[in-house]
Amino acid sequence: MKRLPCSLWFLLLFAAGGLVLFIHQQDLSEMVQQQGPVHHQVMIKGFGIDFNLEEMKNCRKKRLKRGHQTIHLIPPPQKKPHSTGGVQLYFEFLYLFEGYNQNQHTFSNGSHQSWKKLSDILEARRQLMKEMCAKYKSSISRTITRHHVKHLFVEDKYKLLYCQVPKAGCSNWKRTLMVLAGQASNTQSIKHDTVHYGHHLKKLDSFDRQGIMHRLETYTKVMFVREPLERMVSAYRDKFENPNNYYHSLFGKPIISKYRVNPSWTALKTGSGVTFKEFVQYLLDVHRPVGMDIHWEQANQLCNPCLIDYDFIGKFENMEEESNFLLRWTGAPPNLTLPSFKDRNPTDKRTSMQLTQKYFSQVSTLERQRVYDFYYMDYLMFNYSKPFKDLY
Ligand SMILES: *[C@@H]1O[C@H](CO)[C@@H](O)[C@H](O)[C@H]1NC(C)=O
Ligand SMILES: *[C@@H]1O[C@H](CO)[C@@H](O)[C@H](O)[C@H]1NC(C)=O
Ligand SMILES: *[C@@H]1O[C@H](CO)[C@@H](O)[C@H](O)[C@H]1NC(C)=O
Repeated sequence: MKRLPCSLWFLLLFAAGGLVLFIHQQDLSEMVQQQGPVHHQVMIKGFGIDFNLEEMKNCRKKRLKRGHQTIHLIPPPQKKPHSTGGVQLYFEFLYLFEGYNQNQHTFSNGSHQSWKKLSDILEARRQLMKEMCAKYKSSISRTITRHHVKHLFVEDKYKLLYCQVPKAGCSNWKRTLMVLAGQASNTQSIKHDTVHYGHHLKKLDSFDRQGIMHRLETYTKVMFVREPLERMVSAYRDKFENPNNYYHSLFGKPIISKYRVNPSWTALKTGSGVTFKEFVQYLLDVHRPVGMDIHWEQANQLCNPCLIDYDFIGKFENMEEESNFLLRWTGAPPNLTLPSFKDRNPTDKRTSMQLTQKYFSQVSTLERQRVYDFYYMDYLMFNYSKPFKDLY
């Protein structure tokens, strides 16, 4: 997709090279060249990037490409008229970065290097995604329909599109989106049921075609993924090991009825007590007695990353750091950070890789291989390594 020149105008953060920025007022003023009353150019030392401040004001793009460098820019928290010129604007952008000392104009040790590193990782994920899409999904239709965007939540104020991948930190992101949208003052005050059943957040498929396309073209598109087998085990534990009338009735009953030998009357009637092996049998069955569900559907099927050019592919495994990076990147209020609620069954242990291996010890090697095959595209696209050595 073509990046508009407008995108030049937000302040830079992480350019290539492990440069430490020490900006002194004096140096900067030398770098500012006045070119008439409203047009300024700022050269930022070491980066060779010039900013046209006038254009910068009206621009929403958060990433710009210069040569082979990708530079991430962060807008100021609110758009004020910038009569003060380049230096002031520059510092307004800068102070958003964690660890930036406004008095000394320095970054505290490590903070901007770690963000620079993260920014490189995120760019590598996007590149890998592009390669995988070209290799495996080049034949898919390029036309985006309503169906492709039905899992994307819309936050119009900060221009975010968040694709919902359940069991990958989704509830905490929904809370955060509600705070961004002004529906709550902080993430703690939102009740669990409000997050899950409140329908407070708009879905992208509720807009008309023009509204969908406009948002896809101009908003920051985000998705978070998780190690696929771990996510699948987490979904099983959440929906089948705990009381859940809806899932036990809708999925439990047909699963027990098809895969259990001599099921008890109670098991058939309630659908409770689906074993992990039965769940795996259902997942691998080409004639499933009941369809797929968002909780165990492949992430690439939910979010369509080959059709939708995600700006940000985050990982559950590094959720907190990456989410907070994203929040600063989008210009969210500085005191807003991702919460770490564990909404359902808060006393259960979080599903770890160890726990995942324990669950998979209950199924055959062949079944385990086939579950891996089932999620193979997620492994490739999101660069997760094989969870068991003997998989091929
Ligand atoms: C940053 O940390 C390194 C070692 O961790 C140290 O050598 C260096 O002096 C520190 N720099 C600043 C500006 O504090
Ligand atoms: C994929 O993951 C490996 C191992 O975790 C890492 O070394 C590599 O840089 C990653 N590649 C991309 C393109 O993200
Ligand atoms: C952030 O600060 C503002 C103003 O002090 C306050 O109203 C708001 O509740 C805070 N937000 C969070 C998420 O704590």
